[in-house]
Amino acid sequence: MTREKKPLRSTRSYGPRDKDGFIHRSWMKSQGLPPDVFDGRPVIGICNTWSELTPCNAGLRDVAEHVKRGVWESGGLPLEFPAMSLGETQMRPTAMLFRNLLAMEVEESIRGNPIDAVVLLGGCDKTTPGQLMGAASVDLPTIVVSAGPMLNGKYRGCDIGSGTDVWKFSEAVRGGRMSLDDFMAAESGMSRTPGTCMTMGSASTMACLMEAMGIALPFNATAPAVDARRRRIAHESGRLIVQMARDDLRLSKLLTAAAFRNAIRVLGAIGGSTNAVLHLLAIAGRLGVTLTLEDFDRLTVDVPLLVDLQPSGRFLMEDLHYAGGLPAVMKELAPLLHTEAPLASGQTLGESLTGAECFNREVIHTLAQPANAVAGIWVLSGNLCPQGAVMKPSAASPALFRHRGRAVVFASIEDFRARIDDPALVVDEQSVLVLRGCGPRGYPGMPEVGNMALPRKLLERGVKDMLRISDARMSGTAFGTVVLHVAPESDTGGPLALVHDGDEIVLDGPQRRLELLVSPEELARRREAWTASQQPPRYARGYYSLYIQHVMQADRGCDLDFLVGASGSAVERESH
Ligand code: FES
Repeated sequence: MTREKKPLRSTRSYGPRDKDGFIHRSWMKSQGLPPDVFDGRPVIGICNTWSELTPCNAGLRDVAEHVKRGVWESGGLPLEFPAMSLGETQMRPTAMLFRNLLAMEVEESIRGNPIDAVVLLGGCDKTTPGQLMGAASVDLPTIVVSAGPMLNGKYRGCDIGSGTDVWKFSEAVRGGRMSLDDFMAAESGMSRTPGTCMTMGSASTMACLMEAMGIALPFNATAPAVDARRRRIAHESGRLIVQMARDDLRLSKLLTAAAFRNAIRVLGAIGGSTNAVLHLLAIAGRLGVTLTLEDFDRLTVDVPLLVDLQPSGRFLMEDLHYAGGLPAVMKELAPLLHTEAPLASGQTLGESLTGAECFNREVIHTLAQPANAVAGIWVLSGNLCPQGAVMKPSAASPALFRHRGRAVVFASIEDFRARIDDPALVVDEQSVLVLRGCGPRGYPGMPEVGNMALPRKLLERGVKDMLRISDARMSGTAFGTVVLHVAPESDTGGPLALVHDGDEIVLDGPQRRLELLVSPEELARRREAWTASQQPPRYARGYYSLYIQHVMQADRGCDLDFLVGASGSAVERESH
């Protein structure tokens, strides 16, 4: 059913033959738009996070032009607007600090302007969730077109993966197994086209989840940034969003509880980033969909790893695309999905998977013969993480799934960097590296430092992995036996703040337990001392201050508390 006869939102601005209509139209005509484009056709906002400071999104100017072709062709009026771009590799203290700021900007830009539907152009890690959080709080018809992954990195005739091989090479240099010259030579070969990290990092993960939830067209996640197929997807998305505007097919009709459940199962099957846990929780919060941290464990416990991609496996996004892309993965996973879920295209998920095919079983495995039987997201509980913590077993060492060791505590990332390679540091491979001060409030912004580098003296002895625990995040491209997102964080007085060097810590991953073996009485004594030692907050003004006062803990997705929910798309009164 179309809503062609019901006036669109934009007609409140462009329809009236009066002073207000004059003002809205006349200034737009200054861009060369002819009068008849204000005839009541759908106005499509194209929200673009292109920036030279976000190289992963560098192709989005071109992508926007192809979206516009599709919009014009289908009788819509495309209007592109910029949104704050968050370059993961460039921004300090961390792009995550600004995800919620981008969400605020996108929300108010959509609501404040005379547009009927939105195309979100994002890619680099925090741009996709930030844009979607903002769009969800307005709830117009919305579709996502991603920047697409880079082509596979190349070094000495081998494929190398964004991020994942940086961590590997860096440890090899520190362990004396790679020269600094070789390390520097790999730099140019790793990132050789525009596009997002071509491992299953946070950007690829979020792009896959957009596709799984039905708000991006098939192959949007995997088509390389420089592939003509990305332009075709952009063109077709431009056509589709006009129809979605006419049909009033809003985000809330697609992003249902079933869509979130599908996304979480796909997250498990692709070995996706732990960052997606935070983002999905935050997006669900905007839409009023009930989703808890525990749902990530419950819904992935029976999902094996189907996709053999770095950091959990061997291949890269380009390989996944040629192997059949996410449709081939979801076809294999279909028995565990809500195939009746509706998609932006008007099909159900099940209908869209009919023609999906796998062309390479080394890259996309079957449920019967998965790449790894242990996958998904483990959600831990215990006295060290009363509000939970997460761990990605597919990227961890099975030998450390159950581990008991003594804590080596670092009070901050600066403390860690200053001491980790100190030959006098009391540490062995049984030790548990504990890092605090890296939560949403404490850092602020929860940086990707949870995959702490191992002590040089242990690397030189051939140690490859150790249990590491923190209130930080880690890059989706990273790996290791790493417990992340410990909540509440240390800066709010979470138990992580009370761990001392030498305390025993027990991880029982299969039982989802994380315990600090210190008596309640001793912890109470330490809490009193901790409270007395607190300093006034470091950031007294600006966005940092707002963020620190209002950011929620990791188990709630780190949204700002006053941004949870939606305010709708009502058109406000005229201002002149
Ligand atoms: Fe931008 Fe990885 S740094 S996608």
